[in-house]
This record gives sequence, structure tokens and C-alpha cells, in this order.
Amino acid sequence: MRTNKVISLSQFIADQQNKFPDASGDLSKIFRDFKFAAKIVNRDVRKAGLVDVLGAFGTVNVQGEEVKKLDIIANEEFKSSLTLGGDCCAIISEEEEDIHQIETTLNQDSKYIIAIDPLDGSSNIDVNASIGTIFSVYQRKSPVGGPVTMEDVLQKGINQVAAGYIIYGSSTMLVFTTGQGVNAFTLDSSIGDFCLSHPNIKIPSKGNIYSVNEGNYDQFDQNIKDYIDFCRNSIDKKAYSARYIGSMVADFHRNLLKGGIFMYPSTTDSPNGKLRLMFESNPMAFITEQAGGIATTGKGRILELEPTEIHQRNPVIMGSSDMVKKALSY
Ligand code: AHG
Ligand code: MN
Ligand code: MN
Repeated sequence: MRTNKVISLSQFIADQQNKFPDASGDLSKIFRDFKFAAKIVNRDVRKAGLVDVLGAFGTVNVQGEEVKKLDIIANEEFKSSLTLGGDCCAIISEEEEDIHQIETTLNQDSKYIIAIDPLDGSSNIDVNASIGTIFSVYQRKSPVGGPVTMEDVLQKGINQVAAGYIIYGSSTMLVFTTGQGVNAFTLDSSIGDFCLSHPNIKIPSKGNIYSVNEGNYDQFDQNIKDYIDFCRNSIDKKAYSARYIGSMVADFHRNLLKGGIFMYPSTTDSPNGKLRLMFESNPMAFITEQAGGIATTGKGRILELEPTEIHQRNPVIMGSSDMVKKALSY
């Protein structure tokens, strides 16, 4: 007799879909495809030290950054799964300069566009620290059947239909929102499926973790320096601890569960910060807000930024509401 109720990702999504009688089921199929690619990338990440996938690919991506082999592998796996699944008409990827149009017969009537950071935290691949995948789902604006346009792709974060991430950590988890809260599923490798492990996640409104690359301190604006000084100097009751891995997915995930603030502010070298609006800021901002937190550039809500190019960057301050409000007071 089964005593404890285990809910798989597919069962959970089917249940969510049943609440919307008009839903076509295509979004569920997109999740099926994400799940499949996630399991393959998970396998590759787990075997990375054993087979020849560590290290650099020998090229740089469109932003001039060194591309790791796993970046390429993950990009290809997600593209392939989403293409074979048949429910996505285009993909934009951190690893590709332009829109990747999917014009197969299977996909030509699909309305969904995917934005993806296939491998987040590349600098941690070779050192066995947590890495991830980040994704967003949008609906095209132009009619189905024709080529996907820049206007279809460059939509504000508030238009996201779904967003999520996969973390390849000490366990592998898929965390996502479709605008009805945030739920997390842990991969049970013994049955090969993602099972609901963290229902309806709410980020604590207060936290004691601040996550920022303090190596950039001298390059931050004075107000950011002042806020960091506040976190460092709260000697009254040792209120804050610094935690920074350098994989956004891992830093974000910890703060989501424990409470904290994650920042990648502008620097003198990178006036718009480092993180990409379409691939990192918007999906994480959607999840943050759905979990009850705040996600801002410091000047306004991330989800309302008007994108002008696929690879644009923006400053990021996100996390526990009380902490972000405190940071904004500077
Ligand atoms: P990616 O590996 O997709 O290029 O992203 C790396 C990002 C993000 O994951 C992380 O928060 C940030 O870069 C770390 O940057 P620094 O090394 O400058 O702190
Ligand atoms: Mn990234
Ligand atoms: Mn990446």
C-alpha cells in the first residue's frame, strides 16, 4: 500500500491545467520537453568529470565570454527537445546571437517562444559547484504560421506565461511558476522523475543573507556601497551573512528558501550590470514576485523593463521584500 502521496511534475501540471478548461495543453507539453532535456543535461553534468565535457569549447559567445562545452551541450539538448516536442515556434538563447526559428511541420502552428540560459554559472562547471538552467515562456504576438519577429521576442517580463529554473546541485530540482505561485520538484533518480517537494514557496519577507560579488565593491555606485556597508556593519546582533557562489541559480535558490537579497548592480566597467534581461533577470523576477519578494533594477520593477535587444543587460536587486526595501532606501 502506498502511504505517502507523491505528486509528479506531469501530474501537477495536468491538475493545474484542469483548472483552466480552455487551456490547450500545449504549455504542459513544453514542460514535458523541458523536463526531458533537464534529465539529459543532469546526466551530462553528473558525468562531467568522467567523460570529456569539462573545460572550454575554444570559442567565445556573442558577448565575448568563453563558452564551455557544457554550455553548448545544454543549448543543443534543450533546443532539440523543444523542437521534437512540437509546441514551440522559436527559441532565443544566451548562446545564440539571433532568434532560432523552428519551422518544422510539427511546430508551425505553435504559439510559444522560449528564452533560455541553457547553462548558468559556467565558471562553476569545472569545480563541481552548483550550476543551472533558466527559462521563460512567452506567447508570440504575430499570427502563427509566419516567421517569429523581434517584436514577438522582445516582450516585457510581465508577459511571461511561465518561468523557471533547474538547479543541478547536490540534488537536481526544477522550480517554476505559471503565475499561480512557485512550486519546486526534486528529481528522484531512482524513479527518474521530478516529484513535488516544495509546494507553494514563499520567500521569507525578512532574511539575513546578502549575495553580491564584493570583489566589485570599488566599482559600485555610492548608494550600493552604503547598503553593503550597512550589511557588513550591523554589529548590534550580527544580522547579516555574505553568501555568494557566482551561479545566479544557486545564489537565488538559497535566498528563495532561506530569505535574503541577491544583487548584481551596475559597475563602472558594466554600467548595466552583467545579468541579461531576457535570460536571467526576467524569469528570476517573475519567480521572486510570485514567491512574495521584490525584483527591481534599483530604479523600477524588472518585469516592466522594455527590452530593445535580445542580449541586453540590466542591474538586479531581488529577494526578500524587507531587505530589498531597505536596499532601496539607500
Ligand atoms: P552564465 O554562466 O550564464 O554566463 O551566468 C553567469 C552569471 C550568473 O550566473 C552569476 O550570478 C554571475 O554571472 C556571476 O558573475 P561574477 O563572476 O561577475 O560575480
Ligand atoms: Mn547565466
Ligand atoms: Mn549561461
